[in-house]
Amino acid sequence: MTCDSARAQRPRVFVTRDLPGSALDRLGEATRMDLWPGETAPDREALLERVRDAEGLLCLLTDAVDEDLLRGAPSLRVVSSYSVGVDHIDLAAASARGIPVGHTPGVLVETTADLAFGLLLSAARRLAEGDRFVRDGGWGREPSWSPHLLLGTDVHGATLGLLGLGAIGQAMARRAAGFGMRVLGWTRSGRAVPGVEPAAFETLLRESDFVSLHVALTEDTRGLIGARELAWMRPGAILVNTARGGVVDEPALAAALRGGTIGGAALDVFSEEPLPDASPLHGAPRLTLAPHLGSASQATRARMAELAVDNLLAGLAGNPLPHCANPESDPGPEPEPEG
Ligand code: GLV
Repeated sequence: MTCDSARAQRPRVFVTRDLPGSALDRLGEATRMDLWPGETAPDREALLERVRDAEGLLCLLTDAVDEDLLRGAPSLRVVSSYSVGVDHIDLAAASARGIPVGHTPGVLVETTADLAFGLLLSAARRLAEGDRFVRDGGWGREPSWSPHLLLGTDVHGATLGLLGLGAIGQAMARRAAGFGMRVLGWTRSGRAVPGVEPAAFETLLRESDFVSLHVALTEDTRGLIGARELAWMRPGAILVNTARGGVVDEPALAAALRGGTIGGAALDVFSEEPLPDASPLHGAPRLTLAPHLGSASQATRARMAELAVDNLLAGLAGNPLPHCANPESDPGPEPEPEG
């Protein structure tokens, strides 16, 4: 067989962005890989066009994989997302077509918890405000040290409330133990986690100095934190969100920050990303912002790429994905004929 005919037999895959590490070299050797060039996402039209003949799709959380896309890609056999969250993918539509969807849990747990705890510390001690104050020359107009300058909230000894006790929520609890915090946890499943006091949803919001969100975005959790929930929180409490923006009602949060209902917030995720200029969050006080950096360490992003490629290659080979978000896509072996 010539090189060209061997290559022509490899499955065709579309990859929507270059990824850190060397995993895509491996994918390029095993498939006919169409890699979207550049740092920005393909627009919708380009995505639909490039996936039309693909057997595999390696996408990011910025790429909506919905019914229309799946209908327009009749050869597609597997979707692999370079993310743990899969709220950008219509899992039911993929399952109905028998298409397994891969994702990347596990490898980003500690890195995301580091960021969440970093945001908690930053918001508590007003580091982002301090940085802006120094850069903007505000410090030069003040005495060199002031007893009243940028006073924050102690983290050690405070109470942390975790909404969601999956792997990242549990990793937050471990970090909080090192700071001598009391940790309350709420989860729909009621699972018990060592070092975490189970609490009812409202009690957790009322008793916590910090509330950190670690739930997936689903129809049940969309808008979980709205005006009523913010009003239950302590006046000085700080909300941290590294989960998904849609879990929080952003106009209600902006109003709560402006009105002093809560003491501050630190957000890594937003209902629309990048954060639109018209967002009510712009200009809200005591708000620390990050551009969706939860898993953004070099090592973790490279591990995520390895996992995403493993998932894609397994699906193309007709094998179970190492990490499948919709196991129901596999109807299992054909039943033995009776008789
Ligand atoms: C990031 O938000 C992810 O879902 O991996």
